[in-house]
Amino acid sequence: MSFTTTILQWYQKNGRMLPWRQTRDPYAIWLSEIILQQTRIEQGQPYWQRFIKRWPTVDHLAQASEDEVLRLWQGLGYYSRARHLLQAARQVVAMGGFPKDMKALRSLKGVGDYTAAAIGSIAFDLPVAVVDGNVYRVLSRYYGITTPINSTAGKHEFAALAQQLLPEHQAADYNQAMMDFGALQCTPKGQQCQRCPLQETCVACREGRVDTLPVKLKT
Ligand code: ADE
Repeated sequence: MSFTTTILQWYQKNGRMLPWRQTRDPYAIWLSEIILQQTRIEQGQPYWQRFIKRWPTVDHLAQASEDEVLRLWQGLGYYSRARHLLQAARQVVAMGGFPKDMKALRSLKGVGDYTAAAIGSIAFDLPVAVVDGNVYRVLSRYYGITTPINSTAGKHEFAALAQQLLPEHQAADYNQAMMDFGALQCTPKGQQCQRCPLQETCVACREGRVDTLPVKLKT
């Protein structure tokens, strides 16, 4: 069975039930991605609930005061995220709704490559792979790739591989499967290879190199 098929099957069985996964509303999905940028799921989830309750649509949020947005954001840190959130909400309203292409998503305040790929794939089924620390870790281990993840060559290599592995019509599930697989199974330390569905074909597992991957250059 291929890497992608195995990951998708693992996700069906082990994926996390998260409230923003029960919707295709781009507003709800965008909000979750901004909150999760520098915040763990357990911490971010109650904030997401409070924001959705207070401002159920992007139009509601666009009309909020910055003071109130910052007040609800209190405790999450990185307050520029909150300011950008409000600015992006106003951008979206000015655009007549959430844009459905990568370039326009990327033009929203606070939305970088990762977040644009996450929103585009999860909300709009755009076939774009997310690439983050989880993806670097899983792919470097499975394929035994030693190219440093923070080198230019590494960034290109991993981005190309991630994109190549993406199932064109299941981008949302695949990307979220990689997030969960990296967070729950193929973790930085204490990974559980003895109960991993990829153990027999994973280069790092077969060669006992799990703890040496991914490679990161000291800067
Ligand atoms: N981290 C960032 N976005 C996420 C998502 N949609 N699901 C789980 N973890 C995430």
